[in-house]
Amino acid sequence: MSEKQQFASKIGLIAATVGSAIGLGNVWRFPAETQTNGGAAFLILYIVCVLVLGVPVMLAEFSLGRGGRSDAIGVFRKLAPGSLWWIVGALGVLSAYVILMYYMVVTGWTLEYLVQSVDGALYSGIGTAGTEGLAGLFTERMNDYVGSTWSPLIFTWIVIGLNIVILMGGVQKGIERLSNVLMPVLFVILLLMLVVSLTLPDAGAGVAYFLDPDFSKIDARTVISALGQALFSLSIGMGVLVTYSSYYPASTRLGRTSVIVALTSVLVAVLMGLIIFPAVTSFGLDGESMRGATLIFVTLPEVFARLPLPWLWSALFFALLLVAAITSTVSICEVPVAALQDRCGYSRRRAVLTVLLPLTALSALCSLSFGPLADVKILGYTIFDFLDMVSTNLLLPAVALGICLYMGWFAPKGLLADELSNNGSLRGSATPAVTFLIRYLAPLAIALIVVFNYI
Ligand code: PFF
Repeated sequence: MSEKQQFASKIGLIAATVGSAIGLGNVWRFPAETQTNGGAAFLILYIVCVLVLGVPVMLAEFSLGRGGRSDAIGVFRKLAPGSLWWIVGALGVLSAYVILMYYMVVTGWTLEYLVQSVDGALYSGIGTAGTEGLAGLFTERMNDYVGSTWSPLIFTWIVIGLNIVILMGGVQKGIERLSNVLMPVLFVILLLMLVVSLTLPDAGAGVAYFLDPDFSKIDARTVISALGQALFSLSIGMGVLVTYSSYYPASTRLGRTSVIVALTSVLVAVLMGLIIFPAVTSFGLDGESMRGATLIFVTLPEVFARLPLPWLWSALFFALLLVAAITSTVSICEVPVAALQDRCGYSRRRAVLTVLLPLTALSALCSLSFGPLADVKILGYTIFDFLDMVSTNLLLPAVALGICLYMGWFAPKGLLADELSNNGSLRGSATPAVTFLIRYLAPLAIALIVVFNYI
């Protein structure tokens, strides 16, 4: 078995965990969900779900990972030998792999749009398209691009290659170093874009939409969406937090770390809302244009095209998205990589290649489902949509539920309390409250997500 690695510094382990949490989920999924679910009321629900359910479940994963000091499957093998709990870990590894198949493709699109922003191709011809024609122009460009065979594939493979290079560097020299550099970059870009967006004409209308709640818009579906968004955006339910916390030193304060990660993730989502809603309302673009991929690949380019120096804002935005996405893909890859190292005794290099090389073919299936494989349907979904649906609506909540049930009811007595208090050396840990939430509220809420998603 390989020597257990650790993060080198407190700031590095927080950067890496925050880097995993902040991803396409905050920058893209959150504004789109907020729009679909009625604006500010959704924001409030999302924050409540993060604090009341996200943080306790995150603490369950952290305690499991650091207490078991192994990969997502190994922690159960160690702590619950002879039982079937390891299946929860195996499902985590599976869900990580499934998410990677499409997350890599979207990250590839982001890279392509960054390149096209810098070389100007994305904005060629906007002068002749006229204001009215911009939406059509960018929609056509997006459809042409994602529907073509080679270009999105090649960019997906480049992203997979980048992941291989980073992961080969290991926990400290790869993941931690990358996060230490990229997280500050992400915040600088965010703040720059925030200033630009808030100074656009009529920005106030977008801010009001985002921050002024209309509670009549809340129904069961909104609550379920907010909960799903909270789990996804905190990287819960995929073994990522278990795997990363197995690299935390014994002195790390898990409670404090979870609150920092959760609040930073919420902060980025809020900043994205404050960037996107004013920009969209300022140019009178409608709510329909916020849905799905259109928001990022059509609506925002439309906004940038109306600003001076479109390529610059566009390049900054896609760089932001790329940074957010890469620190998340690396964390998801680490789940199966760690499992192969710890379970099968693979060297890091062999584990990284075993995980990522097959991904070139599997993510190709996802990429091609927008073009040549568009007619291939699984239960009525395209390959891409099917994998997205299965992982987000089924695997992710199932793993989160399994972890809550294990940590709440079956784990060795005192494990949670010991981990939360660093074996009794920290006073004032919120163990009783966390235990209550992990035992009762979180499993109930997560079970509801699954049921609601399928009725
Ligand atoms: N939290 C990431 C995001 O918001 O984009 C996505 C993610 C990463 C989900 C890692 C799950 C995970 F294990």
